[in-house]
Amino acid sequence: MIELHGVSKTYTLGKGVEVHAVQDVDLTVDRGEFAIITGRSGSGKTTLLNLVAGLATPTAGRVILDGSEIWRLPDSAQSLWRSKTIGFVFQFPSLLPSLTALENVMLPTMFVDDSGRADAASRATELLDSVGLADKLGSYPRQLSAGQQQRVVIARSLVNDPQLLLADEPTSDLDEQTEHEIMTIFQDIHTRTGITILLVTHATNLVRFGTRAVRMSGGQIVA
Ligand SMILES: Nc1ncnc2c1ncn2[C@@H]1O[C@H](COP(=O)(O)OP(=O)(O)OP(=O)(O)O)[C@@H](O)[C@H]1O
Ligand SMILES: [Mg+2]
Repeated sequence: MIELHGVSKTYTLGKGVEVHAVQDVDLTVDRGEFAIITGRSGSGKTTLLNLVAGLATPTAGRVILDGSEIWRLPDSAQSLWRSKTIGFVFQFPSLLPSLTALENVMLPTMFVDDSGRADAASRATELLDSVGLADKLGSYPRQLSAGQQQRVVIARSLVNDPQLLLADEPTSDLDEQTEHEIMTIFQDIHTRTGITILLVTHATNLVRFGTRAVRMSGGQIVA
């Protein structure tokens, strides 16, 4: 599903100062793996996820996702491809405050070319049910706890039936029990659907939820 060959990302900060955020990374993630990348703050985890998603362009090397190098496609083709192929979950739930949970989950279906998917509402309802929020369809984000909001985000990330789920520190803002619940939801989604998941976290104790653990340090994969 994901192939990184000798991938580096260097940021130039002016006056010749360079930050080697990701350095010469080789990584293959097979279809159906639930890979968890751990590493300290600044080790390059988010940069690596952005490279995989085609949201950052590599300074060197090749990033191949499902057989293609997305960042080489024209912008509009990239966005469409990304909306259909990848689901995103970030650290802070990014829901639109004026939309209900159900509407937030349906939103990404508007950006794919199947003209809004006629079954979007039933699909969204099903997904909210699967993350334990069947009774919160009409709730607004402000009426939901942080953990419930993150569940809505997870449901939203799956609405276009992506092949890959990318999650960046999805639990770092949550208490321990809620963190456990959210990780169990990822595990459950992985088991039920066989989707490929790449999840990034600084919490090394969470690797037990995945099928594979990768450790980063100083922009490199060290284990
Ligand atoms: N847009 C940017 N411009 C310049 N430097 C950047 C940029 N993005 C990231 N960096 C630098 O690249 C390095 C890796 O950052 P990255 O955000 O990938 O780390 P991280 O492992 O996700 O950290 P955290 O756990 O704090 O989220 C850091 O030194 C960071 O300062
Ligand atoms: Mg990060």
